[in-house]
Amino acid sequence: MPTVLILGASRGIGLEFVRQYAADGWRVHATARGDADLQALRALGAQTHRLEATAAADWPALAAALAGERLDLAIYNAGVFGSRSGSAEPPSREEFDAVMQSNVFGAMHALAALAPQIEASGGTLAFVTSQMGSIADAASSYGWVYRASKAALNMAVHSAARERRCTLLLLHPGWVRTDMGGANATLDVATSVAGLRRVIAGATTADNGKFFNFTGKELPW
Ligand SMILES: NC(=O)c1ccc[n+]([C@@H]2O[C@H](COP(=O)([O-])OP(=O)(O)OC[C@H]3O[C@@H](n4cnc5c(N)ncnc54)[C@H](OP(=O)(O)O)[C@@H]3O)[C@@H](O)[C@H]2O)c1
Repeated sequence: MPTVLILGASRGIGLEFVRQYAADGWRVHATARGDADLQALRALGAQTHRLEATAAADWPALAAALAGERLDLAIYNAGVFGSRSGSAEPPSREEFDAVMQSNVFGAMHALAALAPQIEASGGTLAFVTSQMGSIADAASSYGWVYRASKAALNMAVHSAARERRCTLLLLHPGWVRTDMGGANATLDVATSVAGLRRVIAGATTADNGKFFNFTGKELPW
């Protein structure tokens, strides 16, 4: 039975990954920050770990807790949007730090802490990014800090890919009805996650470092 680790699984897309992999018979490890969220994840059959992605010390602690476990797949899903404003309004230091730390700093620590274990299984380490991080596709500066953070995440993962003996993926989930995506988003979370799971399942080492959406379409940087 394969094993997956979902990083940032309390709600939205991360929680749906836990539901679907557990329903499919995978062994699931999942992280969250709050007691109630950890308990709800255990009720779904997941083994849980408390993780604040922006806390550097939590990463070696997580890697130590998972030592000896064969990890076929890990998904860095944690993310925050911050303010919706664009270039007319520069961010506060607090907003900038909160978005960059959760979306980039945490992901860089995840990669360094977990890639060796994923390499041992020849598995996949996927990062949930966003099409809003595509420089080629940027039609406006709406969500300016978020866009910059996901472009930085894309660079961090893409640049590390050639140095790693596992498959690193950057995945855009579509516009999804979650707390972040809002009620007007075009996709329900189950459809998005089912699509992302198909993309992950179909990925080979030839896809290492690539950027795909939930239908498997490769996206421009
Ligand atoms: N929804 C969309 O339309 C959309 C589109 C493109 C990309 N994405 C990306 O998809 C991912 C999931 O988004 P979502 O829509 O499911 O958002 P969401 O409902 O707001 O959930 C965000 C998740 O990230 C966790 N998280 C945030 N910062 C964290 C930190 N510092 N440490 C640990 N956990 C942290 C949250 O945990 P808490 O509950 O503890 O806060 C929560 O589990 C994000 O990376 C997002 O950027 C979403």
